[in-house]
Amino acid sequence: MRVPDHGKLTPWRFVTVGHDQRDALAALLRQALAEEDPDAKDAHFAKEDEFAHYAGQLVVLISAPIEGHKIPVWEQQLSCGTVGMNLLLAAHALGFVAGWVTGWRAYSPKVNAAFCGPGERIAGFIFIGHASRDLEERERPELSAIWKAWEPPERQSE
Ligand SMILES: Cc1cc2nc3c(=O)[nH]c(=O)nc-3n(C[C@H](O)[C@H](O)[C@H](O)COP(=O)(O)O)c2cc1C
Repeated sequence: MRVPDHGKLTPWRFVTVGHDQRDALAALLRQALAEEDPDAKDAHFAKEDEFAHYAGQLVVLISAPIEGHKIPVWEQQLSCGTVGMNLLLAAHALGFVAGWVTGWRAYSPKVNAAFCGPGERIAGFIFIGHASRDLEERERPELSAIWKAWEPPERQSE
């Protein structure tokens, strides 16, 4: 929770889903999927059931910005993003493996209603546990591709 937070608004919070609540989560996802995607296939329902029962601890990160505050909502959402990253780093530093996942569930009105209050939204489902296999590295951007020195705009002619 020690993150950059302009205005010290704490515009984020956590909800944990216990192992004994995973069946309830699966039921929620099933209902939401059925309502929001009438064409959803069995394989999709099975995937959601698997998601709800992923091993490890499940922390749902909630973005809870204050609308109309002088600190823009964008900055409050950025602060929430730093919480997610901190949670991943902290978990890894403690010897766990953690993953941040969203997918349709994070944007589902029904799923959001089950976790969030007014004005809030799900920022991610963060699973924390142990790796069942070696982690694979993925491609990372080259620094040269995402960095350039600032070029000041041409001085306007006076
Ligand atoms: C907001 C957000 C949502 C994400 N949602 C997913 C997701 O739904 N599924 C997924 O495979 N990866 C998702 N990712 C990416 C993973 O968190 C992660 O970056 C990816 O699995 C590769 O892991 P690595 O970055 O540690 O190499 C998401 C990342 C962010 C920041």
